[in-house]
Amino acid sequence: MSEDINVSDNSVNAVDRPNETHKIIVTIDGPAGAGKSTVARAAAKRIGLPYLDTGALYRGVAWRMNKDGINADEGSLMSEVLTTFKLEQRNGKLFADGVDITSHIRTPEIDRLVSVYAARPEVRNALVDLQRSQAVNGLVADGRDMGTVVFPEAELKIFLTASAEERARRRCDERIARGEKNVNYDEVLRQVIERDRYDMEREIAPLRPAQGCIILDTTDMSIEEVIDAVTSLAKEFMRQ
Ligand code: DC
Repeated sequence: MSEDINVSDNSVNAVDRPNETHKIIVTIDGPAGAGKSTVARAAAKRIGLPYLDTGALYRGVAWRMNKDGINADEGSLMSEVLTTFKLEQRNGKLFADGVDITSHIRTPEIDRLVSVYAARPEVRNALVDLQRSQAVNGLVADGRDMGTVVFPEAELKIFLTASAEERARRRCDERIARGEKNVNYDEVLRQVIERDRYDMEREIAPLRPAQGCIILDTTDMSIEEVIDAVTSLAKEFMRQ
């Protein structure tokens, strides 16, 4: 399933809908490395809803600002870029102004930079409007503020978490699987803790469990178990 996302015009895209009863909104929030995107993508497929990876959007913005040499404290320059910048998610890939940047957004450099850009109101406002415009046909969206800010009325709100050590281990495994050499666990753990702190302590849309959410601690769960749990919860809500 694909979704087209355009930062500049917030257009609502036409997404194939399996049937009307599937139009629910499922939000999955939580800290870095909790397994949100893997779980959200797989659960969306099983349920038959579009999947929105909002972390990828923030990463796409950080990639562009970094490429243009714009710092996170240069608000008006960022706003100028964001008025014409086009981000699209299609078939699990991220396109910036039509160019596939998927392989550029999950790098150690973007990992290090993204939280600072994501804390800026210019960036958040542009992306919040865009995210809401995608939900007319229901969706599964993962991020940090899906249940608290973007979709507080979602039918199902989940907060996925796991110990920092387990999340750092998962991040290392992902990087090794992508072919990265010299992956240093202690450094990854330090970054995970630092990014959590930054995301939780920022003024706008800080990371925290949404009111009425279900908290799932996945430290001792396999990814399959988490996907099963989220899928069955969502199916319950679809029957209501
Ligand atoms: O989930 P991720 O690691 O790809 O997210 C990248 C960064 O984007 C992370 O530091 C927090 C930020 N983010 C956010 O502030 N709000 C979201 N809805 C999604 C991500």
